[in-house]
Amino acid sequence: MEMKDKIATVFAEKFGKPAGTFYASAGRINLIGEHTDYNEGYVFPGAIDKVIMAEIRPNGTDKVRVFSIDIDEYAEFGLEEKDAPSQSWARYIFGICREIIKRGGTVKGFDTVFAGNVPLGAGLSSSAALESCFAFGLNDMFNDNKIDKFELAKIGQSTEHNYCGVNCGIMDQFASVFGKKDHLIRLDCRDLSYEYFPFAPKGHKLVLIDSRVKHELKDSPYNKRRESCERVAKALGVKSLRDVSLAELNAARIGFSDEDYRRAKYVIEEKDRVLTVCAALERGDYDEVGKMMYETHEGLSKDYEVSCEELDFLANLAKECGVTGSRIMGGGFGGCTINLVPDSLHDGFIATAKEKFNAKYGHEPMVYDVIISDGARRLED
Ligand code: GLA
Repeated sequence: MEMKDKIATVFAEKFGKPAGTFYASAGRINLIGEHTDYNEGYVFPGAIDKVIMAEIRPNGTDKVRVFSIDIDEYAEFGLEEKDAPSQSWARYIFGICREIIKRGGTVKGFDTVFAGNVPLGAGLSSSAALESCFAFGLNDMFNDNKIDKFELAKIGQSTEHNYCGVNCGIMDQFASVFGKKDHLIRLDCRDLSYEYFPFAPKGHKLVLIDSRVKHELKDSPYNKRRESCERVAKALGVKSLRDVSLAELNAARIGFSDEDYRRAKYVIEEKDRVLTVCAALERGDYDEVGKMMYETHEGLSKDYEVSCEELDFLANLAKECGVTGSRIMGGGFGGCTINLVPDSLHDGFIATAKEKFNAKYGHEPMVYDVIISDGARRLED
């Protein structure tokens, strides 16, 4: 059964008629620009054709009643700060409600059922998809769409900070809200200026290889990486690493550890790589794009230390197979590699990756072709 039909059936079972309104928002990929967002650098993400979808209907009370099809659990909560639900999945929705209310917006009681096909823990931002789906939906339903899209992304980000314990940047929520079919978004995380780049690489496909090693950013050292960057910026007397060149970093090695130095070095190099990739893409120079992707992987693995054995294995394997570019994607500590694969190698590379990964780790990775799609939206009938 299609996702929308399934949600409609379960909604009618749980909450009766009439039907509610349907909303969806997307997971994301990021071609390059990892861990640069919270350093006010550039990122280059796009929304994908994997979504979280929700049916929502006001219920005339001050309670939210929500059923998650995938988790097969029900939660119910009020809209005041003291009403936070205990289930971690429900806290995302509670957080969105609270962040809208804190900004002076309106949220009243509603019933909702949601489901999704964004793989969890794969680095594809299923949580941003969930946040953006509800931020968009509740803005449409209770606020006449008066909250602009920038604020919707920030509402998702603040939900992570204040209700989910992840001190993330803005990339995931921005991509999920602003995503546009067949386009990547070059976003400057300093002032949120952005540009859409048409993305249809000739003779290549983007492929995700999901190691199925799960990470949970909350318990991972993600927040610690951010603290390292902030320590270096502070020691150098600047607001963020955006303002630091490699020469400046190398000239001033006082006030932070060697480990912090390596973290900062990676971020400074990565920030330039995003611009190099955007320019290369405009010229159709995929070899340059791929080279930068491998460099990012190396930096994330050796200097930023957010990779893991399985992902290093996949990126190395890609190189051995002649794949144009490959790197770990997202926050790290598990999840996917993103691969820019020549059409002629596509099937062979996937078969080899499955076989060799399975031989070494005892399970096959999941493989997804990436289709760049629209972000948050209301689904018309
Ligand atoms: C996670 C965070 C993002 C970003 C990436 C790394 O996905 O949510 O804000 O920092 O990691 O680029």
